[in-house]
Amino acid sequence: MFCKSSLITVALALLATASPIAQPEPVAEGITIALPKRSSLTKADGTFDHDRAIIQTTRTINKHRQNLINLKANRGEEAFNPGAEIKERAVLPEHLAKRQSESLTDQEDDTEWTGTISIGSNNQQFVIDFDTGSSDLWVPNASKCKDCTSKHTYNSATSKTSKAQSGTFSIGYADGSSTSGPIFTDDVTVAGILSTNQYLAAVTDLSAFSDDPLDGILGLAFQDISNLNAPPFFQNAFSEGAVPSGAFAFNLASTGSTLYLGGTDTSLYTGDVEYHDVTNSGFWQATGGSAVVAGKTVVSDFQTVIDSGTTIMYGPAADVKKFYAAIPGSTEYDTKNAMYSFPCDAVPDVAFNWGGKDWAITADNFNLGTETSGSSQCVGALSGQDLGLGAGVWLLGDSFMKNVYTVFDVSQNAVGFAELK
Ligand SMILES: *[C@@H]1O[C@H](CO)[C@@H](O)[C@H](O)[C@H]1NC(C)=O
Repeated sequence: MFCKSSLITVALALLATASPIAQPEPVAEGITIALPKRSSLTKADGTFDHDRAIIQTTRTINKHRQNLINLKANRGEEAFNPGAEIKERAVLPEHLAKRQSESLTDQEDDTEWTGTISIGSNNQQFVIDFDTGSSDLWVPNASKCKDCTSKHTYNSATSKTSKAQSGTFSIGYADGSSTSGPIFTDDVTVAGILSTNQYLAAVTDLSAFSDDPLDGILGLAFQDISNLNAPPFFQNAFSEGAVPSGAFAFNLASTGSTLYLGGTDTSLYTGDVEYHDVTNSGFWQATGGSAVVAGKTVVSDFQTVIDSGTTIMYGPAADVKKFYAAIPGSTEYDTKNAMYSFPCDAVPDVAFNWGGKDWAITADNFNLGTETSGSSQCVGALSGQDLGLGAGVWLLGDSFMKNVYTVFDVSQNAVGFAELK
């Protein structure tokens, strides 16, 4: 359950721990940011929220489509993974587009991990989603914004540290709409960690996010997929010496989720971090992944993008078909969206492996709930979807990240997994 009052509590808690003015000392150690609990794609009655899953999938397709457009603009198509292509923008079916644009007062359904940041000399506060699957910081515009009444908005005029930059930021949404805005640099502080002259944009239409408690997104991937073609927050803060290490780490738990900026929180995991080099694609992409079902490798040697801004997991349609073929009793439950189900009384043992340990996905994290009320088939958190990211590229979102301590290291160019305590 996630409501406005818990957001405010988090905001206040962060305010109390952050330095009051946007000129803090560089932090000596890393800093923990509490992230509100996320609800899942499972409704309160245990059934799978099919509509919301389709909205999430559409958003995911369009987010990565935008990433590829940005990558092409910044580095050219040569930087694409083999087989990658910019797909048509995905559009929601009409009834879902309508549902999505209804302004909901109920904010229990949040599906991103959010936290608070402050922008400008006057510490304007925002609730944002920390997204390892994109690279820009954007928030709503204070003077002009559609469907922003429940949002915190950015006023560049009242911040003494804001500077207008050339160019325009643009982003396409799941409902087929897009929005844009001018580009600024300003001081941005996350839990006391300051990034000066941080590139950001303020957008003028948030109708596609009106059912979401977030104000904006803070991208944690690489500059190559930035629409602003500018250093993302963490890289900028690290190069300015504001954090003691080039690593940040997520612990996405059912209670007490955190993001640690500037190292790893050793109290949260055991053993070593198993690191894998990231390929030079702009994404947190590790190679050599395999999918394991009931102890048997069913698909191997694929690329994996680790994305905290995506709810479930996606693989190429043919690979995902093979994956479920290894699970007795599984069926393709939604052929249009390549969603599969399996017998609820036999949740499969599934894991991913990058040449080291098997990183298992718990039954709770793999099972998204029953197809319908009383059904004995349950929907799996892996769906077949060609996101355009390249041949054999899988996208592992929170359904995977919730099972491990995930470390993103910009100085080693590596992503790592460790066993949660
Ligand atoms: C907000 O929109 C107004 C009107 O289009 C524009 O003049 C202003 O620069 C925008 N502010 C930001 C922070 O983007």
